Amino acid sequence: MYILGIETSCDETAAAIVDDQRHIHAHVVFSQDHASFGGVIPEVAAREHLQRIESIVHATLEKAPEAAERLSVLAVTSGPGLSSCLWIGIGFAKALAWSLGIPLVQVNHLEGHVLTVRLTHNIAFPYLALVASGGHCELVFVRDIGAYQVLGRSIDDAAGEAFDKVARLLGFPYPGGRALEACACAGDPHRFTFPRPLKGQMGCNFSFAGLKTAARTLLEHLPDLTDSLKADFCASFQQAIVEVFLDRFQHAFALVRDQHPTAIVLVGGVAANQKIRSALEDFASSCSIPFVAPPADLCTDNGAMIAWAGLEQYRQGRRDTLDFAPHAQWALQELSCGL
Ligand code: KG4
Ligand code: ZN
Repeated sequence: MYILGIETSCDETAAAIVDDQRHIHAHVVFSQDHASFGGVIPEVAAREHLQRIESIVHATLEKAPEAAERLSVLAVTSGPGLSSCLWIGIGFAKALAWSLGIPLVQVNHLEGHVLTVRLTHNIAFPYLALVASGGHCELVFVRDIGAYQVLGRSIDDAAGEAFDKVARLLGFPYPGGRALEACACAGDPHRFTFPRPLKGQMGCNFSFAGLKTAARTLLEHLPDLTDSLKADFCASFQQAIVEVFLDRFQHAFALVRDQHPTAIVLVGGVAANQKIRSALEDFASSCSIPFVAPPADLCTDNGAMIAWAGLEQYRQGRRDTLDFAPHAQWALQELSCGL
């Protein structure tokens, strides 16, 4: 079975073809450049999607002509995300499904992220997954297709958003997470004391807004920010996030340990961070289970994760009619029945 997935929920216009043997035949992503605005402007992003979507889908089909000939299903992100952006992907996917005469499955973007490891690593249920990106921070116990127990989420900013906001204070272009990590490499993670919001507290929620305030206050007291101080600042900030992630995972694992999770999984753009990855890897190894993160290009927003999630649902009998609309807010938990 071959399936084409389309993703336009934020600032990536993406499409991919995957099959039920977990093979990715084509995978094309166009990442918009919002650096000059310091963040994603929905209207601008929607316009870019509208201008690009045909060429991105066309390029995907051209890369794998034989698979394209045999498409049996289409999948599209229908939420959560920016409404104006979701409209573009949904409208395009509906028209394509209608003209090809094949079914269309709507996919929850977060579900796409958490199921990616089944495409890349064939991970069995259940597993513990953290989606950490610029827009999301959710710790999920993935029991089965459509059975997601959200154990915790950020009560304010997403983890990537925290990286980006602090990176911006330091003058790095948006999105600044990667630059902040690069700068932190040469720094001392114990030079400055940042708060570890919610660390040690009950539950598995996250909070990152206070970190930005702490960063700003600290910077006001560092009028002469030398390169070396900047590196120490980045390393100390990153260390705070690493410790928060670890603490929340420890709490989450304690909650689900007796249900025998098969893996600890990290997805989303923040999964590119080596310090976070190695901290979680060590933790997973102390729990005697594998740590799994998909390759970077499948951790960030892409069409393959949407195609795969659509395929998993289609195999379970899911069918959508062509009258659905975007769900800008669409909690993963809403997909789960009786959890
Ligand atoms: O998943 P993603 O590509 O897009 C969405 O937000 O949906 O994630 C982008 C986020 C940005 O906030 C970016 O700064 C962050 O991931 N990021 C990183 C790193 N690389 C990307 N954060 C920390 N360390 C990194 N190496
Ligand atoms: Zn995403």
